[in-house]
Parts: sequence; structure tokens; C-alpha cells
Amino acid sequence: MNNFTTDEIYQSEKSSNLPILVAEDIIKIYRTGKIETQALRGVSFTIYEREKLFLIGPSGSGKTTLVNIVAGNVKPTSGKVFWKDLLKDITRSSFEEIIKARRSFAGLISQDTRLVSHLTVKENVELVGYYANLPSSVIKQRSEFLLKFLGIWEKRNKKEDTLSGGEKKRADIAATLVTNPKVIIADEPTGDLDVITANSILDLFDKINKKLHIAMLLCTHSQNVTTRADRVLEIQDGIIIGQHESNLHLRKLEQSRLLEIDRQERIKIPESILDKLDNPKHFEIQIMDGKIVLNPIYKFKHFENKVKKVITCTICGKLAKDNSDFCKYCGATIS
Ligand SMILES: Nc1ncnc2c1ncn2[C@@H]1O[C@H](COP(=O)(O)OP(=O)(O)O)[C@@H](O)[C@H]1O
Ligand SMILES: [Mg+2]
Repeated sequence: MNNFTTDEIYQSEKSSNLPILVAEDIIKIYRTGKIETQALRGVSFTIYEREKLFLIGPSGSGKTTLVNIVAGNVKPTSGKVFWKDLLKDITRSSFEEIIKARRSFAGLISQDTRLVSHLTVKENVELVGYYANLPSSVIKQRSEFLLKFLGIWEKRNKKEDTLSGGEKKRADIAATLVTNPKVIIADEPTGDLDVITANSILDLFDKINKKLHIAMLLCTHSQNVTTRADRVLEIQDGIIIGQHESNLHLRKLEQSRLLEIDRQERIKIPESILDKLDNPKHFEIQIMDGKIVLNPIYKFKHFENKVKKVITCTICGKLAKDNSDFCKYCGATIS
């Protein structure tokens, strides 16, 4: 609790290189009736202490699924997630264990605020502390500090329906921080706010990151958000295709993208590049002057005209005669 005093707080501009959250080879397949959607196809990444890591990608690319998995809300189909100080892969923990461990590890923020409407701002913040079984003296001290730190002390006795969008968000953030998490995990946190309010909330995230040393994992669509990141991961079709530093332009991602080799040593070539090359299916690869050169091949020459179609009986497995309707060994219909 050393950080949560109104005394001068140590400021650090840089993230450290100690990992606080590690995701390994995350695969997620949703099954709805007979339909399967592979939302994540082997995603690995690490968040370091105090780092501001943002996740960008088109709608449907898997951002929400990924943050829900690393936050412990959703179980992956396979893969592992490790949180600092918890010596266990959380995907193998029960939801009860996760909820308990998450109180001191991660604060979750989404577009919707979770304030209880008949309680005041201050009571809402304190409530989260009571749920986490914190001593009441600690709860009082932290709530007061956070309400002042986040600029809503004046509104502490108001209820949700009298607050503006930005004030509700500040109250929600205060409630999230009362358990002193190490990382904030936020899915499009400013998506429902106007630009000016959104910017003021983003300023607050910067302040929380710098002064309270809390790391951030934030999903976003918006340009003004991404310029504030330490590092940006780009996700497409359920795979992290590359990384960017903060000076990126969402419409010109290829200018700042560093392609990522994943743990299976795969590189995904971005669709925009393949489109420009007329979508080749194969490449010849060469090393020239220390660079990898990929030469697109539009026809797969080697097997053309050499492949003979072979049909085997699906029942007995024997080779079926060309044009025969029935297997001559077992009599099954050849389809
Ligand atoms: N609960 C679910 N059931 C079935 N399919 C889902 C579910 N949630 C997400 N999906 C699918 O998984 C893919 C990734 O979705 P999502 O993680 O929400 O992406 P994003 O947040 O980047 O828009 C999409 O094709 C989406 O339709
Ligand atoms: Mg989403």
C-alpha cells in the first residue's frame, strides 16, 4: 500500500522489464450449434510492469476475446495465462480462485460502468473494498485518495443518475482501483464517450500509469488513443501479426509495423500486402545481403499434370476401379 498516499509519489517514465502477465499460445474456438468460430489461433504476448500496451485490430479480429481470457473471464480452448505472484496457470483455476486473485491483480474496465444506482459515488467505491475484505480504515483512506486523485471528490455524495458520462467513468475507475491492482485491463473504455471527455479519461489513464505505476492493457479502435501507448500489438483474424511503437497511424500501419514471429515460428503476411501482390499462394524465399526476400509464385508448377486422382472405398479401404459405382471387394457404393 506504499503507493496509495497523498504524499509525493515516485514518478517513473519507463516500464520495467519484469513481466506481470504472460499469455502463451492462446486458442479460442466458440461453438454455437454446429458452427465453429476460431476467434484466436495461437496468440502469445507479455505485459511488463508499468507498461501501457494497447491492442488494435479490425472488428471481429479477437480483441475482446483475448482481453476476456487474460482477465480470467473466459476460458480459452487451449493455452496458458500467468499472472504475477500467482504460481499457477489461471486457465486451470476455478472462477472462484480467479476472482479472489484478481482483486489485487487486475482492474477491469469496459464501456459500461458498473455503479450501483442507489449508492453514492463514495459508497460505490467503498463497496468494492468491502467485497475484497479490506480493513475499513484502508478502504476509507484509499477511497478518499482515489476520489481526489481522479477529480471527483466534489461528486462523492452524488448518485449515478446525476453524473455526466465522464464522471461516471471516473467513479467506475475509482472503484476498480480501490483494491490496488497491478494492471488495468480495458476493452474500448472510451468508445461511448465524446472526443473531449474521452481525451480527459485517457489523460487520467496516463496519470494512473505514471503516478500509481499501474500497467495497462487497452483495446481500442481510435487514433487518439494509440498515440499514448508504450507498445501496440496488432491483431488480425485471431493472430498477432505485428507490433508498433506509439507513433503509428491507423491508416498507414505498414509504415510502423514490425512483423512478429510467433512461438511456432510463423509470420503472418498482412492482407493489405498480399492484396497489392494479387494474393499469391506461394513464395520462394532467399537471403540476399542479410535480408529475407520473398518472391511471389502465382502457380504451383511442380505438381501440375502429374497428379493422378485415386479413389479408395470408404468402407473397406481398397483401391476402387475407375468409373465403377460399386466396390468390387465389399460391394459398397463408391461416391
Ligand atoms: N460468445 C461468442 N460466441 C460465438 N462467437 C463469438 C463470441 N464472441 C465472439 N465471437 C466471434 O469471435 C470473433 C472475434 O470476436 P471478438 O473477440 O469480439 O472481436 P473484436 O473484439 O476484435 O471485435 C468474431 O468472429 C466473433 O463473431
Ligand atoms: Mg470487441
